Amino acid sequence: MTSDKKTILSGMRPTGKLHLGHLVGALENWVALQDTYANYHLIADYHALTTNLDSSGLYQNSLDMVIDWLAAGIDPSKSPIFRQSQIKEHTELHLILSMLITAARLERNPAVKDQVRELHIQNVSYGHLGYPVLQAADILLYRGDLVPVGEDQVPHVEISREIARRFNAQYGKVFPEPEPKLTKFARLPGLDGIDRKMSKSGGNTILLSDPPDEIQRKMRTAITDPQKVRKNDPGHPEVCLVYTFHQKFNADDTSAIERDCRSGALGCVECKKRIAGKIGEVLAPFREARAHYDAHPGDVKEVLADGEKRARVRARETMEAVRGAMKLG
Ligand code: TRP
Repeated sequence: MTSDKKTILSGMRPTGKLHLGHLVGALENWVALQDTYANYHLIADYHALTTNLDSSGLYQNSLDMVIDWLAAGIDPSKSPIFRQSQIKEHTELHLILSMLITAARLERNPAVKDQVRELHIQNVSYGHLGYPVLQAADILLYRGDLVPVGEDQVPHVEISREIARRFNAQYGKVFPEPEPKLTKFARLPGLDGIDRKMSKSGGNTILLSDPPDEIQRKMRTAITDPQKVRKNDPGHPEVCLVYTFHQKFNADDTSAIERDCRSGALGCVECKKRIAGKIGEVLAPFREARAHYDAHPGDVKEVLADGEKRARVRARETMEAVRGAMKLG
C-alpha cells in the first residue's frame, strides 16, 4: 500500500485444469508482470455461477486452477491469490456500483451477448446481466490501474472505467480508471481447426497437466494443411495450425520445419510427433508441480488463506474510502 508500484488486478473463472491457451494468453503475461507491478490474482468463483448454478465443483476447480498458476511461476509471496467469494467486500461494492450503470448499457454489452449466444441461454439472469458490474467491483476493490486481458474482455473493462468515472464524479475521487493491458500473443487455435480459440467447451485443448502420451494422442487429431494429403506433398505452414504451435513452443526449429514442410521432406505425422514432444518438455514443470501439490494439498490451501488475508486488507481499505466518500458513516 505504501508501494508506488501500479496495481494490476487479474482474474479468471475457475473452470478447472487450465490449457495451453491460458498459458499463452494469460499466465505467461502475469508472470512477466509480477516484478514490476503490485499484482492481485483473483479467482472469480462468483462469476462462474453466472453461467452454471452448480456450485459443487467450484472449490476443487479453484484449487486445480491455483496449482496451474503456481506451476506457471506465479509467486504467491509477491502476488496474493484469492477467491472472490471469500472477500465479502466484493458483494458490498458490487451493490453500490450497480446503481451507477443503466440496465440498457448492460444489455448492449457485446461480451455478455456473445456468451448468451454461445451457451444458448434463453433467459439471462439479473446476476448474469450484471457480470461486468461484478467485474468492475473486482477491479476497483483493489484500486487496480491495469487489467491484463484478451480482446474479448475489453468491453467489460470499458464498463469498469465508466463506473469508476461515474462514482468519482458523484461522490469524489476514490478509484483510478482501470486500463486493459492486452496480451501480446494472439490466441492459440483449437486442435480441431473449427474453433479459432482453444476453449474448454470445445474439447480441442491440451491441458497443462496432460502427460506426454496424452499430448501425442491429442496432437495426432490436429487438423493440418488440407492440401498436404500425402506425406511428400508440399505443405503450406501459413495455413497449418500445427505450425502455429511450432512457432510458439519450438521457436529454434521453426525455420527448418517450415522449409521441410514446404519441400515435402517432412510429413504431418512426424511434424506433429515433434511438436507434441516439445510441448511435453515445456509442460514438465507443470506435471512436477501437480505431483508435488497432490502430495501436499495443504500447501495450496495455505497459499489461498494467506492471499485472502492480504487481499482483505486492501479491500477493507478501499471500502472505508468508499463509505467515507458516500458519507455512509
Ligand atoms: N471475465 C473474466 C473472464 O471470463 C474473469 C474475470 C472476473 C476477470 N473478474 C475479473 C478478469 C477481473 C479480469 C479482472 O476471463
